[in-house]
Amino acid sequence: MDRPKSAKISLLAVWTTLLVLSVNGQSDCNTHRFTNNQAFTQCSPLSALGSFLHWTFNEQNRTVSIAYRHPGTSASSWIAWGLNPSGPQMLGTQALVAYTNSSGQFQGYASPITQIATRLEPGNLSFRVSRISATMVNGEATIFATLELPASMITVNQVWQTGPVANGVPQAHLISGDNMRAISTIDFRSGQSSGTGGASGDRLKKRNTHGILNAVSWGVLMPLGAMTARYMKVFTQPAWFYLHIAFQVSGYVIGVSGWATGIKLGNDTPGTSYSTHRNLGIALFTFATLQVFALLLRPKPDHKYRIYWNVYHHSVGYTTIILSIINIFKGFDILDPAEKWRWAYIGILIFLGACVLILEPLTWFIVLRRKSRGGNTVAAPVANKYSNGVNGTTTTGQHHQEA
Ligand SMILES: *[C@@H]1O[C@H](CO)[C@@H](O)[C@H](O)[C@H]1NC(C)=O
Ligand SMILES: *[C@@H]1O[C@H](CO)[C@@H](O)[C@H](O)[C@H]1NC(C)=O
Ligand SMILES: *[C@@H]1O[C@H](CO)[C@@H](O)[C@H](O)[C@H]1NC(C)=O
Ligand SMILES: *[C@@H]1O[C@H](CO)[C@@H](O)[C@H](O)[C@H]1NC(C)=O
Repeated sequence: MDRPKSAKISLLAVWTTLLVLSVNGQSDCNTHRFTNNQAFTQCSPLSALGSFLHWTFNEQNRTVSIAYRHPGTSASSWIAWGLNPSGPQMLGTQALVAYTNSSGQFQGYASPITQIATRLEPGNLSFRVSRISATMVNGEATIFATLELPASMITVNQVWQTGPVANGVPQAHLISGDNMRAISTIDFRSGQSSGTGGASGDRLKKRNTHGILNAVSWGVLMPLGAMTARYMKVFTQPAWFYLHIAFQVSGYVIGVSGWATGIKLGNDTPGTSYSTHRNLGIALFTFATLQVFALLLRPKPDHKYRIYWNVYHHSVGYTTIILSIINIFKGFDILDPAEKWRWAYIGILIFLGACVLILEPLTWFIVLRRKSRGGNTVAAPVANKYSNGVNGTTTTGQHHQEA
């Protein structure tokens, strides 16, 4: 097989993009820690003005505790966030406002917007609000509050804004650019915060998709691929090589999409960061990517460094499989699906383990017998084009001595 340069380059591009995506996502929602140590189960970057909404929705009594965060707030500007059941507009918004008042304190309060020329006077909202507070830390302003929402306002328009303060009084905001785009809808229950809406089970569906993709790829295809390499090598030349590649590449492709859904889920839920599961996931992605690069960079079978490459390839491979299985069980703990799913996966592992128990001694037996006969009977007719990496029993023999 030849190794086109373009394959390496495109792989590198995919890899870099994913890494940048995950790091960027982290700086938004996931890594944010509030100075008062409050944590929220959901977070969404808002579509304008560089703001974020963090919240926790309580289904029983329909209360939602929120934190509206606006980085880059000066001492002479106000910020506001609110819900508007009457339409995607400013007028009628039930707002929370904060700014540095004339006694120099950053003050948060509620303000219903009843006219366009509002000066954001304090007032009562159409629903109950408690625990309003506001903080200003390193130019980042946050309003905290707990809202008791009527059933009709679980999915609702949200409006947010910022503008100047003069003589201790909020002034009109700009009527251009981002200031005119700061409107969207939010579904507090499902976690959707765009115009697209979304069914209430949406988040659960994403978590299940993540679980299935990863269990199939990291938990089944990759171990199968490793078993193909270890046990089919003595029987089939060079089919094992292509099967091994097929298992690992499809495992990698499905695994990376599963991994990306996991990173996305993590970024969307800052309050519940499951850091071990996440860090193991990032390590696994790195290992698996190294394995794909290793494939492209492997020396010819008779190259003097090939043995080191083999040691490296096997140790990273087996480590990846063991860590994958550990992380899948960590995922089961987090997702907490019906017990039958955990047992189904345990069943698959038992089956794979039984195959290993049977095939391992069988392979040794065949390899040792061939060695004692001094033969290389199976691999003899291998054509030249397969000669790099797919050589037969000799390689298997080495592999067993290493392992
Ligand atoms: C709503 O329920 C949560 C959790 O059960 C509780 O912490 C909160 O105080 C309740 N809020 C109201 C206003 O009843
Ligand atoms: C400024 O805000 C603080 C904190 O909310 C409040 O105690 C104070 O009375 C406010 N000052 C004025 C002038 O409104
Ligand atoms: C807000 O409601 C309280 C009672 O719920 C009332 O005492 C207060 O005057 C109201 N404030 C305004 C500005 O209407
Ligand atoms: C590969 O197989 C060929 C043909 O059997 C043999 O001549 C050669 O020595 C083998 N090379 C290695 C590295 O096993």
